Amino acid sequence: VRVEKGGYRHFMMKEIAEQPVVLADALRHYLSADRSGLRLPDEVDFTGVSRLVLVACGTANIACQVAKYWFEQLAGLPCDVDIASEFRYRDPVLDSASWAVFVSQSGETADTLAALRHAQDKVARTLAVVNVPTSSMAREAGLALPILAGIEVGVASTKAFTNQLLVLALLALKAGMDRGRLDAAAVAEHLASLNSLPGLMNHAVGLDDEIRVLANDLAKAQDVLFMGRGPMYPLALEGALKLKEISYIHAEGYASGELKHGPIALIDANVPVVVLAPRDALFEKTVSNMQEVMARHGKVVLLSDRAGLAQAGDGVWSGLAMPEVPALLAPILYAVPAQLLAYHTAVAKGTDVDQPRNLAKSVTVE
Ligand code: G6P
Repeated sequence: VRVEKGGYRHFMMKEIAEQPVVLADALRHYLSADRSGLRLPDEVDFTGVSRLVLVACGTANIACQVAKYWFEQLAGLPCDVDIASEFRYRDPVLDSASWAVFVSQSGETADTLAALRHAQDKVARTLAVVNVPTSSMAREAGLALPILAGIEVGVASTKAFTNQLLVLALLALKAGMDRGRLDAAAVAEHLASLNSLPGLMNHAVGLDDEIRVLANDLAKAQDVLFMGRGPMYPLALEGALKLKEISYIHAEGYASGELKHGPIALIDANVPVVVLAPRDALFEKTVSNMQEVMARHGKVVLLSDRAGLAQAGDGVWSGLAMPEVPALLAPILYAVPAQLLAYHTAVAKGTDVDQPRNLAKSVTVE
């Protein structure tokens, strides 16, 4: 299949902009016709499952790290996340009451495929969450769930990440039901919010111009830190990964509370700190971490909703107003500005956005 850029300068931008559409496609596929119930294969039954092991590389691994918060919070299901290249060499403890889930855009990443083969026969079920439905992982796993993001060409994964998050969120809701933590009404409420995501993502894609201006400043930085709490912590990792992959600016993601245990030593007036802070239960704590950064003259770029920006007060270098959203949606929605920030910074620097140096779309060697 030949994929065109459709008027965009880069595949990455095209794929960022496609997210509302492919997310809606996946919702249509995995929800009942009236959108109030889940429509997953019968085999997706978490009854009797005592533990989940999520295994992946790169951006897919970060999607797993977000999902860990959901499986624990929504379903009370113990959940480990592994880097595929570490998994099979450290003798992971696997048992017949565990499920192992392998997340991969390509379904071909050598380390993740080897991890899947390692886990087969040792766990109750292997599940592949992949974008390419004909891939090795889809064929070899006990069950494969497609993420339906369509062909992704840009080396830096964007729409596959948000659709991976969606499918993992739906699995967490199913786990919550099967384990008696969520009733049908609670699930319907979460699904109603998920159904509003395509529209909200459209809005986030619309922040493009504002983010381009911000990126011109970011492009001058040598180091950028990202921080967040809860599921926004892995999103900070993703923001940093995207930025370093395509703009070659050194970037790190941290859990907000960890900043004082080391990285704060790096902060001065030259270091932008991107704070991913929807107004959730931990917002106040993040604001106080942010103030520690500002006290050291760090340049804070705050992503929050309007009330959050107002509450954070003056002293923020730059604020980006996001729609107000339920907690479950925040990591999926905030992925969009994080991607746009990396994209426009790379464009401002003139790097090869779709084919960054030294990287491959799919790594089929160990
Ligand atoms: C490569 C790509 C990343 C991707 C990772 C995992 O490193 O550059 O964007 O996240 O592989 O790929 P997968 O196909 O397994 O999701």
